[in-house]
Amino acid sequence: MAATGSEKQGATAYYVSTPIYYVNDAPHLGHAYTTVAGDVLTRWHRQRGEKVWYLTGTDEHGQKIMRTAEANNVTPQAWCDKLVEEAWKPLWEHLNIANDDFIRTTEKRHTDRVQEFVQDLYDKGEIYKGGYEGPYCVGCEEYKLPGDLIDGEGEFAGQKLCPIHKKPVELLKEENYFFKLSEYGPKLLEFYAANPGFIQPESARNEVVNFVEQGLQDLSISRSTFDWGVPVPWDDKHVIYVWVDALLNYATAVGYGANQEKFEGTFPANVHLIGKDILRFHSVIWPAMLMAQGLPLPGKVVANGWLMVGGEKMSKSNLTGIKPQDLTSHFGVDAYRWYFLRAIAYGSDGSFSWEDFSARYTSELANDYGNLASRVAAMVGKYFGGALPEATAAGDAERAVQEGLAKAVATADRKIGEELDFQSGILAVFEFVKQVNGYITEQEPWKVAKDTSPEGQARLATVLYTAAESLRGVAVLLNPVMPETSQKLWESLGAEESLGALADQKVQNAGVWGGLPAGATVTKGAVLFPRLEEKPA
Ligand code: ME8
Ligand code: MG
Repeated sequence: MAATGSEKQGATAYYVSTPIYYVNDAPHLGHAYTTVAGDVLTRWHRQRGEKVWYLTGTDEHGQKIMRTAEANNVTPQAWCDKLVEEAWKPLWEHLNIANDDFIRTTEKRHTDRVQEFVQDLYDKGEIYKGGYEGPYCVGCEEYKLPGDLIDGEGEFAGQKLCPIHKKPVELLKEENYFFKLSEYGPKLLEFYAANPGFIQPESARNEVVNFVEQGLQDLSISRSTFDWGVPVPWDDKHVIYVWVDALLNYATAVGYGANQEKFEGTFPANVHLIGKDILRFHSVIWPAMLMAQGLPLPGKVVANGWLMVGGEKMSKSNLTGIKPQDLTSHFGVDAYRWYFLRAIAYGSDGSFSWEDFSARYTSELANDYGNLASRVAAMVGKYFGGALPEATAAGDAERAVQEGLAKAVATADRKIGEELDFQSGILAVFEFVKQVNGYITEQEPWKVAKDTSPEGQARLATVLYTAAESLRGVAVLLNPVMPETSQKLWESLGAEESLGALADQKVQNAGVWGGLPAGATVTKGAVLFPRLEEKPA
């Protein structure tokens, strides 16, 4: 059997994807949540010195987009072009997302390959013609099972609703082509059993295993009542079902059927990042499509929980979406990138609250971290004219700090780089920041400074070196999460000049003590986390 994403080796890239988002509207905090997580994960791996491929993009076909465009009196293509250029790409730039590619499902490099893939399955006898009759949610672009639906109340009394969109499902009755998904149930269960880490978190895995154990139905993979999609190659009265089209982006974007070298060096994904709303597509349908084509399966599918507002999933469709720019203009981009990963355990739901963000910003970013950086730079300036002194009198207290950094590095590398437990990884770094603050409070360098004996001055030098060297490690560890402030700190420590570019510092070596050379030019740079303005009305 072909290697899975978790067994990929050698010259292959560490390949991470986000969902390709529907462009029916502008992005909100939920989309940014998954995309920032992927950016932190891939920056982390790049900073280990690995080859990385980070993919995002947009899902542009199907009824949902078609209806939105109609409602706005433009063609679907014009609608997508506008949203991609004016809303989606600018947001990822604004949030400092370092994606390696951006795929749009209306691009020819994608649509041609989608047709070839589906034609192949047809030729292999994996697809047959049939009729579909049943409920469909256009919000999800998903054929629903009766058991998935909830009973409507109030204005929707007597109707069956999609549990995610809380809107009535539509009843479809049309001629479709079907993929023999039902035949893949036993193979999928075998694969899940052999790869226990394939679906994360555990709750998501259990849900999928239960679902597949109940038996899969064949999947309608075409629609014949509208035309905004990729035509079925052997029957142009049909367009390919938008989810089959969309899932294939993970292959077409990395050269499937077009650039074999690129494809083999990248595919399959090590990690597909998704939200739990689209779990079945990624952990059931997508692997079955790959099995049918004899292609290798991804390493893992990791589902984040939902960002909630007022007890509901934040969403474009129900207008609860909050624009990321509403927060970055107040808190800054770096704090924004940090906050959601820090505040919510990845995989769990979480509510956004302005108050919680403000409180954490002030206590953890501004007070613990920002103040530490500015105090240390100020003292090196005041007592040593800005030239980092040598640590000649290190003792137990300094050794404890060194060990603290080594521990933070090991924990963060495992939690962020391997387990995608961003919260624990970030916490490990901030616990170290607290430890350094505690060390300075105990050592009282401002008092030691009054002792002008050689011993006193050696102690003062040692304390300040230890603090600055600790900050070097912190700048490296936080660079994947908060690249702008890490760069500011890096420059203020004189590290750019003495150690080179921050991006070239390996995260796994961030705890090797003694990186900063004595004599480095420490300057008091810009404040890392300025005091927050009043909350806008
Ligand atoms: O499903 N909380 O696109 P989509 C957390 N086009 N994450 C959220 C969220 C929230 N409230 N809201 C959205 C689609 N997300 C398909 C994907 S992939 C081949 C095709 C994030 O625009 C989360 O990652 O509805 C979720 O799965 C995704 O956005 C859905 O985006
Ligand atoms: Mg959605």
